[in-house]
Amino acid sequence: MKKDSIQLQITADGSHTLYVEDMDEHYHSWHGAIRESQHVFVDKGLKEIAAKEVQLLEVGFGTGLNAYLTCLEASKNHRMVRYDALEKYPLPIEIFRKLNYNGQLGGDEGDCFERLSQSPWGEPTNVSAFFSIRKMQDDFLTFQPRRQWYHVIYFDAFAPEKQPEMWQEQHMRKLYDALVPGGILVTYCAKGAVKRMLRSIGYRVESLVGPPGKREMIRAIRPE
Ligand SMILES: C[S@@+](CC[C@H](N)C(=O)[O-])C[C@H]1O[C@@H](n2cnc3c(N)ncnc32)[C@H](O)[C@@H]1O
Repeated sequence: MKKDSIQLQITADGSHTLYVEDMDEHYHSWHGAIRESQHVFVDKGLKEIAAKEVQLLEVGFGTGLNAYLTCLEASKNHRMVRYDALEKYPLPIEIFRKLNYNGQLGGDEGDCFERLSQSPWGEPTNVSAFFSIRKMQDDFLTFQPRRQWYHVIYFDAFAPEKQPEMWQEQHMRKLYDALVPGGILVTYCAKGAVKRMLRSIGYRVESLVGPPGKREMIRAIRPE
């Protein structure tokens, strides 16, 4: 992915996304980046977990929007979230400075977006009293997550048509192994072939109402 092919665009809820010209792909839904991220990952993922301290893995850190919304939710509920964010192609800091997520949401934790986007790669950083992040510059295809460790996985890779290698069974199986029993993986994707593959691995698969502009999304649970 060439950095000079990335353009900043405004989505329907006023929040920014990035368009990658050489892939013809967006980082978020056109119907609202914040709305999609809040619905798919925070509301249908994080909020479904009962644990007091949550271990979370994100595949595809990108702009940090999912991490930011998770940080706000953790502060609101005084629930500790330890967030491991995987990204092969970190964005340059100039792009983070242009993103308007702080301005859209602000509030007491407004500067947590700046803190998490500027936190160093490779070491855990406390962004707020209830949120720490470890940004890992690594390739998901060779990444070996800790087994039975995560309560929730945000799977936010580019779409299967654009990056089919990210959606291969062997990688979804290693994510299954990385979940604690009862842990969940959420993704904006709702493809039948992805659902069937997840079921064949052993996940219990739920089709949920998707964010604005999408009929469905997937929540996949590792049975207890
Ligand atoms: C749909 S975007 C993620 C959006 C992100 N969660 C956000 O809120 O901005 C997909 C992300 O996956 C990253 N990615 C692509 N291939 C990867 C790989 N092999 N390993 C890790 N990350 C990868 C891309 O660089 C991009 O940031």
